[in-house]
Amino acid sequence: MRVALLENEEDFDGWRNAARALAAARVPPAEITWQVGEQPADLFGDEAVLDPADAPAFSVPRPFVELARSVICHSDPERFSLLYTMLLRLRRQPRALEDSADPLVRRLEALAKEVRRDIHKMRAFVRFREVEDEGGTRFVAWFEPDHHIVRTNAGFFVRRFASMRWSILTPEVSIHWDGETLSEGPGATKSEAPSGDPVEEVWKTYYASIFNPARVKVKAMTKEMPKKYWKNMPETALVGELIAGAQAREAEMVEKSRAKAASGGLARAVEAERRVEPGGNMLAAWEALVVDARACTRCDLHKCGTQTVFGEGPLDAKIMFVGEQPGDQEDLAGKPFVGPAGQLFDRALAEAGVDRAATYVTNAVKHFKFERRGKRRIHSKPDAGEITACRWWIEQERTLIRPPVTVALGATAARSLFGKNVTISALRGAPQQALDGGETWVTVHPSFLLRVRDNREEEYARFVEDLRKVGERVRELA
Ligand code: URA
Repeated sequence: MRVALLENEEDFDGWRNAARALAAARVPPAEITWQVGEQPADLFGDEAVLDPADAPAFSVPRPFVELARSVICHSDPERFSLLYTMLLRLRRQPRALEDSADPLVRRLEALAKEVRRDIHKMRAFVRFREVEDEGGTRFVAWFEPDHHIVRTNAGFFVRRFASMRWSILTPEVSIHWDGETLSEGPGATKSEAPSGDPVEEVWKTYYASIFNPARVKVKAMTKEMPKKYWKNMPETALVGELIAGAQAREAEMVEKSRAKAASGGLARAVEAERRVEPGGNMLAAWEALVVDARACTRCDLHKCGTQTVFGEGPLDAKIMFVGEQPGDQEDLAGKPFVGPAGQLFDRALAEAGVDRAATYVTNAVKHFKFERRGKRRIHSKPDAGEITACRWWIEQERTLIRPPVTVALGATAARSLFGKNVTISALRGAPQQALDGGETWVTVHPSFLLRVRDNREEEYARFVEDLRKVGERVRELA
């Protein structure tokens, strides 16, 4: 018997090094004990694993590496051996992973799926409580994952809550962020985590605003939020009260869902929403969108930046401005157009007589894409795939708000709104008809005006003139 020692339950590098050495020595899976942590003394007669440094490297298909990184986080004790068996097979048959009917491939994919689901649950259901410690305010959460996903998920929370001090306690391990460094401690018990505080109130208020009687259907509720999490979630404390009021709202919901079923789309449901509660539940619909967008993984940009920067402004705005993507300052503030380009935009709007507070301002891409240079984060342009992936959100915003006039600020916004590349100079100054009956106008992006060297004054004046025309058009349409 060989013993392969792994540092922790999801020690992918340790597994890979050991597996490489074992595969090179042609050790069959049944002759290996995968041991997490210290080697117990009673494994008498076992041989240590070969030194991985001596093992010849060999390559495996990239999808296998990705699959293995997920599977290793599963709680199934057989995972190390299953992955090793697959690795041996891939050495003989490099395309073995493509056989999706193969029982081993299916089993590994099922394990990876369960891990991904657990990762998503942790992101969605962790709730922080605010506590004071010697260093000031700290946000502490308790979570019980099904699999060994806490270390893998740490990066998400670091990016999401970069400027806060926080701890996530779980039975197996605790992770702590002090604003600069991530550290790890031993597992904890639920009684060590604080309970109840104002952060919860925010969630409760939010949850009450989006509560939907359909959620009373326990099956639907447990599917997305397994019962074991309910006890940790402040909003479930409200469920009783909300159920009591649910029947009264049920009639409204029936009307809304009838309209939705008839059209199959959000637009009619929103229309019904307007009819049932004039001006009413738009805000709840928009808030639900924001929550969904925060968990968006439609493209890899969710791994970038601190947070999703959604649009903002009145939901009955007559003008929707669409920029490219949040910049460094927007990413930190969580609000669009607050950095240098935003300040120039504000100035131009004021000169054009357009009140920004009456407009809805958003971006074609909702995450900040950047390259790191030292401590600086340098803006990098979103590519066509990222723009397309994010069109989903713009379409939702447009369906909800239905602005009579939408303004594309620059080429990325125009590409998102028209679904193809367009030449700004060819479209500038006149409205284009949008499919939803509104008008789309195109102008330059404010950051172009910050960069341009020649004729800066004239370019700025042209931009102000474009905005003035848009303001005038909205008054005409009113
Ligand atoms: N540039 C954009 O396109 N959007 C912002 O929100 C900020 C800068």
